[in-house]
Amino acid sequence: MKQELEANLLSPLPVVLVGAMVGGRPNYLVIGYISPFDFGRYVFFSLYKKRYTRIGIQENRTFSVNIPSENLLAEVEICGTKSGRDVDKGTLFETFLGELETAPMIRECHINMECEVAEILDYGQNEGIIGRVIKSYADPECVVDGKLDMRKVHPILWATGGDFNYYRLGERIGEEEDSADQQEADADPEH
Ligand SMILES: Cc1cc2nc3c(=O)[nH]c(=O)nc-3n(C[C@H](O)[C@H](O)[C@H](O)COP(=O)(O)O)c2cc1C
Repeated sequence: MKQELEANLLSPLPVVLVGAMVGGRPNYLVIGYISPFDFGRYVFFSLYKKRYTRIGIQENRTFSVNIPSENLLAEVEICGTKSGRDVDKGTLFETFLGELETAPMIRECHINMECEVAEILDYGQNEGIIGRVIKSYADPECVVDGKLDMRKVHPILWATGGDFNYYRLGERIGEEEDSADQQEADADPEH
């Protein structure tokens, strides 16, 4: 017999740092509830309306998604517990800008994406932010033969559904190169 749990068990999820310019200063917060959407062309995440970062997302209609590695756990703790209203979180990292110019990205994160707001869904105390991915960046040491190798990124995984602890990525168990291309093609019927 299975045990029924009152939880959304779609887990684990990667911890990301979402960045926005608030009053001309970069601000970063931890987002756990985030997902690729429309076969990766968009990202979709949950944002409480009270978040300081929301001010910048509303103002500029842009934001960034940065994937911190395990070595940034202390900074993640700060970005996930302290508000930009009280702490200048822009000083924790070196910020760089890309094409959009208003989506601050974190140099210390191996992976960065700049996004443009496509739609905002009103969910009471929360909003669902849908952003179109405009450009993606990776540190060269994480790229092998022109492709991202996730084993070099060391992302922090967050278990939801009642666990709520951080984990690290395990070993690669699938076949290499060709099958990865095939799996991507299978996942998106348009390609
Ligand atoms: C693991 C983890 C996941 C989180 N996920 C979300 C989330 O999905 N949406 C959200 O609004 N806040 C989330 N938070 C909380 C914010 O990161 C936190 O309240 C932050 O201090 C807000 O910063 P700001 O006020 O500068 O925007 C999460 C925090 C942690 C530690």
